[in-house]
Amino acid sequence: GCDAKPVYKFPYTARSCKEIRDKYAIHDDGLYYLTTESGVLYQTFCDMTTAGALDAGGHQQGDSPDRPEGDGTWSNRVIFGSAEAATSDDYKNPGYYDITAQDVSVWHVPNNAQTEEWANFSILRYHTETSFLTSEGGNLYHLFTRYPVTYGTGACNINTGPAVPIVYDVGNEESTLQLYGPNPRGEVTPGFITFRVFNYEKAAMAICSGVKPTGCNTEHVCVGGGGHFPEGGGRQCGDFTSFDWNGYGANNGWSATREITESAIMLFYR
Ligand code: G3P
Ligand code: CA
Repeated sequence: GCDAKPVYKFPYTARSCKEIRDKYAIHDDGLYYLTTESGVLYQTFCDMTTAGALDAGGHQQGDSPDRPEGDGTWSNRVIFGSAEAATSDDYKNPGYYDITAQDVSVWHVPNNAQTEEWANFSILRYHTETSFLTSEGGNLYHLFTRYPVTYGTGACNINTGPAVPIVYDVGNEESTLQLYGPNPRGEVTPGFITFRVFNYEKAAMAICSGVKPTGCNTEHVCVGGGGHFPEGGGRQCGDFTSFDWNGYGANNGWSATREITESAIMLFYR
């Protein structure tokens, strides 16, 4: 009739990509809808090869001594962005806190790549296989609640969160090292993903992708900083805190390559 309302049909009801794959025998990577425990519908990118659900890409935090926890994004339920634009803007969906997972996959996808290009364009891709999330509360929301990304709450190499060995899908230990500057290369062990680290100045960072820091200038290899970065008087801030210390994309001194600086870090639960 005239008052007919549109009917929106979502063909699958699932809390995770794995559930879509296993329940409905769907094997194509792409954008799917998932439902949270409380019924919130959201779209995400599913990597059906590993049955991983994208939960976050990017992330941004400020730099102020008055806000040591920054915007607190790693341990809160605030969501932002869209899966489709995750390579162009910050993104976090309800899966970040809703999905219970054992492991993560991480894709470094060049900025502005289209979803169908993500897998093939990735400059670095790996996953964990230790089920480390199980003992950290089942997802990154719980992990970062245990290990807050908060300035001044711990010290370098003492209060480091989990350092988990990785299995490479694209890249290897040597290519991981080459993405970072020559100086930080001497302060890391490749082949790991490390969560919540502090640097010399007690600034906190969420993730060191592909590496386990052995030194304390972690701001050149770790991302997702919270709150405050005392070194350099405002020269260190945001996601890729100090990837550009010796010039943007310069890949000399402490500076990372342009390749990794201009890629989004996509976190998948599996
Ligand atoms: O993180 C590097 C910084 O602490 C030292 O920088 O410029 O003195 O080598 P620089
Ligand atoms: Ca430093």
